[in-house]
Amino acid sequence: MFGGNQYETPFFNAILQYAQKGIIPFHTPGHKEGKGVHDNLRSFVGQNAFRIDLSELEAFEYGHNPEEVLHEAQKLAAEAFGADYTFFLVNGTTSGIETMIMAAIRPGDKLIIPRNVHKSIIGGMILSGARPVYLKPEVNPELGIAMGVEAPDYTAALEEHPDARAILVINPNYYGLCGDIERTVETGHAHGQVVLVDEAHGPHLRFHPDLPLSALEAGADLVAQSTHKILGSMTQSSMLHVKSEQVRVARVKTMLRLIQSTSPSYLLLASLDVARMQMATQGEQLLTRAIELAEQARERINRIKGLYCFGKEIIGQHGVYNVDPTKLTISVKGIGFTGMMAETILRNRYGIQVELSDLYNVLLIISIGDTQEDTDRVVAALEDLATHQVGIGDHVKRLAEVTYKLRPPDLPKQFMVPRDAIFASLRAIPFKEAAGQVSAEILAPYPPGIPVVCPGEEITREIIDYLELVKEVGIYIQGPEDYRLEKIKVVDQFI
Ligand SMILES: Cc1ncc(COP(=O)(O)O)c(C=O)c1O
Repeated sequence: MFGGNQYETPFFNAILQYAQKGIIPFHTPGHKEGKGVHDNLRSFVGQNAFRIDLSELEAFEYGHNPEEVLHEAQKLAAEAFGADYTFFLVNGTTSGIETMIMAAIRPGDKLIIPRNVHKSIIGGMILSGARPVYLKPEVNPELGIAMGVEAPDYTAALEEHPDARAILVINPNYYGLCGDIERTVETGHAHGQVVLVDEAHGPHLRFHPDLPLSALEAGADLVAQSTHKILGSMTQSSMLHVKSEQVRVARVKTMLRLIQSTSPSYLLLASLDVARMQMATQGEQLLTRAIELAEQARERINRIKGLYCFGKEIIGQHGVYNVDPTKLTISVKGIGFTGMMAETILRNRYGIQVELSDLYNVLLIISIGDTQEDTDRVVAALEDLATHQVGIGDHVKRLAEVTYKLRPPDLPKQFMVPRDAIFASLRAIPFKEAAGQVSAEILAPYPPGIPVVCPGEEITREIIDYLELVKEVGIYIQGPEDYRLEKIKVVDQFI
């Protein structure tokens, strides 16, 4: 199905062969193949991981340098994922997102993005000098989460901003919800835009027919994926795929050099090589198992009184074109817990750690690494939680009602691009007195994680009143340096 010999792992093989030669290392890293590592760490991790924890070697063997072998491994990955070129990343998808924005955007170019983006995208805008045009996703008050942005929303933005340079799409979002990626990509291309995709939560999509469409299959230009989040590679290892007529691979490479470490960990790179091989050769079978486990757990959870774990039935709601079945978003509000409370109890009492929690939900990721025993344990824990643990009853519902009924103010006026706001001369002032000032910070109540203010935007009286109320309800506000939001950093002498 995939081009190249996908059973091969050229980078991993080369590094293993090198490690077995017994060459004495008078080079970095200082732990010298683990010999310099303290026993406390080595006795747990073992020596082998350190033997291949190398970087920046001139050659694996005569005439065979790591750059070339890496190129071969990346080529196989490009074949497997459906790209023209793939870069292995060792600084997470964060580095991939920053790189793709810098490759596609020049200072002052407009970039159309959903308002609820991950902070790496704000980082990419600060680095590139992009001028953001934000699209506000709808929040589903029942589920308490931000949904996808629909293709017509992009169309409307593109009609209003025909001079935009690129659009950015999230596919899928953290909760596994996907918009109509094919139509969105078509819309972007029809308007001459570069289509960038944050697919941090979608590296598995390509490898199973029952999963939503991957962004590369939909024709996107640049796609960043967190291989480490969902597949079998090590933390921080990600991929950036390029398949574009508008952005050159060489340009992407130049930008990646600015962003990424000059000492990429060969251990992480090897783990990407092996993870790709695993997916290309056994992906469908492994993912079938993961999907079955997730669907079975979903069904059992939905039989527990008071719990709700959405599945395909929500397809068709605003912003939901498809759903990744391997994500289990479990609403616990019906049993009188907040998601945050349930997370703590599941960890402390049942030895289960979820991926994240919000006001209503806990989110569990089911991957190729999970087993029936694992999902049995989580279902049993949820049953016990629902029947024997005492929550705060209707208080959660009231809290939630207040939160979701509070109508966030309209998007404020943008006076400066985020980059100019961040690098301007700044001062910290009491938040309550900040009306009319230009913010240098993001303020995003979580949930639902949609920023009310972004760097460069005006802080209005309405925003202050809203966020004061949000604070009173006890909702966490992500972003400000002063996490209690008593002070805020604003651009000095702007107004
Ligand atoms: C939607 C989204 N995009 C990007 C990232 C950044 O990925 P990484 O942690 O691989 O840098 C994350 C991380 O949580 C994310 O949730």
